[in-house]
Amino acid sequence: MPINTHNIHVEKAETSKITGVDFSKLDFGRVFTDHMFVCDYEDGKWQTPKITPYQAMTFEPSARVFHYGQAVFEGMKAYKDEDGKVFLFRPKQNFDRINKSAGRLAMPAFPENYFFEGLEALLKLDQEWIKTGVGNSLYIRPFVIATEPAISASPASMYRFMIICSPAQSYYNAAVRVLIADHYSRSANGGVGAAKAAGNYAAQFYPTSLAQQKGFQQVVWTDADTHSFLEEAGTMNVFFRVNDKLITAPTSDRILDGITRKSIIQLAEDLGITCEVRQVTVEEIKKAAKEGSLKEVFGAGTAAVISPISAFQHHDDLFEIPGVGAEDSYAKLFKKSLLDIQHNLADDVHDWRYEVK
Ligand code: COI
Repeated sequence: MPINTHNIHVEKAETSKITGVDFSKLDFGRVFTDHMFVCDYEDGKWQTPKITPYQAMTFEPSARVFHYGQAVFEGMKAYKDEDGKVFLFRPKQNFDRINKSAGRLAMPAFPENYFFEGLEALLKLDQEWIKTGVGNSLYIRPFVIATEPAISASPASMYRFMIICSPAQSYYNAAVRVLIADHYSRSANGGVGAAKAAGNYAAQFYPTSLAQQKGFQQVVWTDADTHSFLEEAGTMNVFFRVNDKLITAPTSDRILDGITRKSIIQLAEDLGITCEVRQVTVEEIKKAAKEGSLKEVFGAGTAAVISPISAFQHHDDLFEIPGVGAEDSYAKLFKKSLLDIQHNLADDVHDWRYEVK
């Protein structure tokens, strides 16, 4: 029977699907929890949000999202400690970023109280889906789409904000091999590269599939003008370790302001590791690889956490990176530091954990 909590109308699922899920064998993003959060924007305002059983939705074929791609999303995770407490990691950053992405696509901002009340109510209902143990998490996908049935090329007047959740383990099962972009581009100055816009991901699929045919899992994007500066990998920001120093590209309107990225920059400072945030040229990384000073390359993102990169290719030059898997690797160090904070196993000096009570 429907119940009301605060501003949210809650309709609980009659039965749970959880017993049919093998939590030891999860493919990323294929299984979803029992409930979802939904809030519509109509008549110039967000309507009363609701939580319903996870289910299919119907939209008119003319819904603007299908034609002009007005769609933005976020990626977050919830973790459960050994006492059963549930935590989010820096959720305000995701809230701010989805509204920034929405603004760039001429979509309305979502209210902070709805976001947090909705998310917390959803996580409480589906808390059995969050498994304890480092490496387990619940991936949370907030997103907004334009639902207005009209196909003139202009911003919609109707939207749907939703949150769905999927139990997750690792995104990449092994170290990743990457191809450095020298023709296609992910973003351009003044474009939408910094927004988590659905279309940014769709636009990468074709060049990434070409890279996959050559044996690489991902493309590391370069600046569209010259293809000489390393930017990000689409699902991850990228860090380079040259000797004992880390280097990563600065964020801009071409690069996603990753929350894992900024957490690593802070953790590096805490650990006394120099991290230079500056433009990184393809040539300097190739030179470092040739000289043997390139010790590691790794990607950082919510889904991917920290994923070592074992090789990169630029034009016809292929480089295998030696430090992958080493006990003293920075990728291992940062991954452990981050996961320990996220799972309530380490002090949280920066106040990054957010307990769902
Ligand atoms: C995330 O890390 O949450 C992302 O958005 C990557 C996603 C495309 C799987």
